[in-house]
Amino acid sequence: MARWTVAGKVCLITGASSGIGLETASGLANLGAKVVMVCRNQGAGEAARDTVILKSGNSEVDLLIADLARQADIHKLATTIRQIYPQLDVLINNAAVASPRRTLTADGIETTFAVNYLAPFLLTNLLVASVIQSRSARIINVVSDQHQPVDFNDLGNEKKWNGMRAYARSKFALIVFSYELAQRLAGSGISVNCLHPGLVATGLSRDFPLPFRLMTRFFFSRPVEGARVPIYLATSPELTEVSGKYFKGCHQARSHPATYNRELAARLWEVSQHLTRHSSQK
Ligand SMILES: NC(=O)c1ccc[n+]([C@@H]2O[C@H](COP(=O)([O-])OP(=O)(O)OC[C@H]3O[C@@H](n4cnc5c(N)ncnc54)[C@H](OP(=O)(O)O)[C@@H]3O)[C@@H](O)[C@H]2O)c1
Repeated sequence: MARWTVAGKVCLITGASSGIGLETASGLANLGAKVVMVCRNQGAGEAARDTVILKSGNSEVDLLIADLARQADIHKLATTIRQIYPQLDVLINNAAVASPRRTLTADGIETTFAVNYLAPFLLTNLLVASVIQSRSARIINVVSDQHQPVDFNDLGNEKKWNGMRAYARSKFALIVFSYELAQRLAGSGISVNCLHPGLVATGLSRDFPLPFRLMTRFFFSRPVEGARVPIYLATSPELTEVSGKYFKGCHQARSHPATYNRELAARLWEVSQHLTRHSSQK
């Protein structure tokens, strides 16, 4: 098999307007990939794309607009991707939110769970059935070391709202999805891995109290350092056969023991299909 190289490959990254996503897009463009940036806001997206082109010198950078809190937007996004790109080589589900306030999406779903977990679940399933078909394609989910088991009786985090817990539960769900999808795609040549990028000073904590934001600014890494991990997972030739793993930094690690529970994974998959009204082929 030819040695994996990201040059010329189509790499799509969500949440590419800022932080780790923006730096990941720049890094991949710098390595010669054709980068597709998915952003929520047209103006911010265009500014981000200009930055990536300027920093990398690579003009093969596309911008697609979608609000991942809206399932209708995710369906439209998947349709657009199918129309433009015959195949995707790398999908990086990076977009996420963390909020001290509980809000609902237009679909009536708690926003953290919707954006951080259901959006990658739906988008990935819509694309796996069509454009992510090449052998050696890579699906990469950006999760967090801050993950804790979901409560099936409270997926909407209605009981005693806590923004950090809602975030941690959404990341737990995304890890479980990563392992389950890796199992379902075993033998297809498509790998699915997830990663914790480290503690990085970004806009993720923008709605949290000032002391917390100040702490992140002084003690956390810079986005370019956080981006090293998704870039590593997207580009490393030695990871071609590696799937269903959790990476902390650029090293494999163990996630919470409950993330390896296959019964929990099957239950979560079923609930997620119901919540996204999506029936995957697998
Ligand atoms: N920073 C850390 O310490 C840390 C630690 C562990 C894991 N992570 C993970 O790293 C990833 C990147 O986060 P970050 O730290 O770089 O934060 P960030 O700068 O806030 O980036 C988050 C990205 O997600 C996008 N996004 C949010 N809601 C969206 C929606 N409804 N539709 C489309 N895009 C949406 C944001 O777009 P807008 O610009 O439009 O808001 C932004 O581009 C996340 O998955 C996060 O959970 C971060």
